[in-house]
Amino acid sequence: MNAKQLVGEKATEYVQNGMIVGLGTGSTAYYAIQKIGQMVSEGLKIQAVPTSNATERLARELNIPLLNVAEVREIDLTIDGADEFDPNKQLIKGGGGALLREKIIASITKFYICIADNGKRSDVLGSFALPVEVTPFAWEITAFQIEKLGCKPKLRYNGNDPFITDNQNYILDCKFDRIDRPTELNLKLNQIPGVVENGLFTNMVDLIICNTADNEIQIIK
Ligand code: A5P
Repeated sequence: MNAKQLVGEKATEYVQNGMIVGLGTGSTAYYAIQKIGQMVSEGLKIQAVPTSNATERLARELNIPLLNVAEVREIDLTIDGADEFDPNKQLIKGGGGALLREKIIASITKFYICIADNGKRSDVLGSFALPVEVTPFAWEITAFQIEKLGCKPKLRYNGNDPFITDNQNYILDCKFDRIDRPTELNLKLNQIPGVVENGLFTNMVDLIICNTADNEIQIIK
């Protein structure tokens, strides 16, 4: 079994009848969602909230009951991937461009599980360029302001055109040498007009389920 499937399926052991479950986005969350779909077909009763249009489509294909986000105030459990994690369970997310919805869902989640393969492990965040969702209007000004925080922002493209998020915004991928104080950087970024949200998930994670170099499951509490 590949590492993403291993950690994705392990996380579904935390899903219980009656829960409202946040469904993450990406190639690791995919395996968790597939497994949840199977569990639902075998009688599990949950209601789910997707973190992207892609995840919503997948959940519908699998007949996982979905809640309208407008009616949700609290989520029991969310399972989502990450692009990088550190020993303090701080994350960089947004490689797939879904960080805004993912972060809104994370912010009302009682128990948040991050699923990530060994390659995402890092002593200090910053190997992965930090995705920052910005308004298309005056994105160049926003990029200039972000650059002053010590990084190189690059507009993300999809072919010849800027990548557009589910919320009709742009993504700037911001390469920092190292992010020593993620909580501080998270606040600073979100104070810049034009920044909608950034991919630093600080103090949001309860558990990381990852694999080791020997492909054993490791649970970081
Ligand atoms: C989506 O925008 C991201 O936050 C994903 O959760 C993250 O990129 C992990 O994706 P993979 O599981 O595909 O690596």
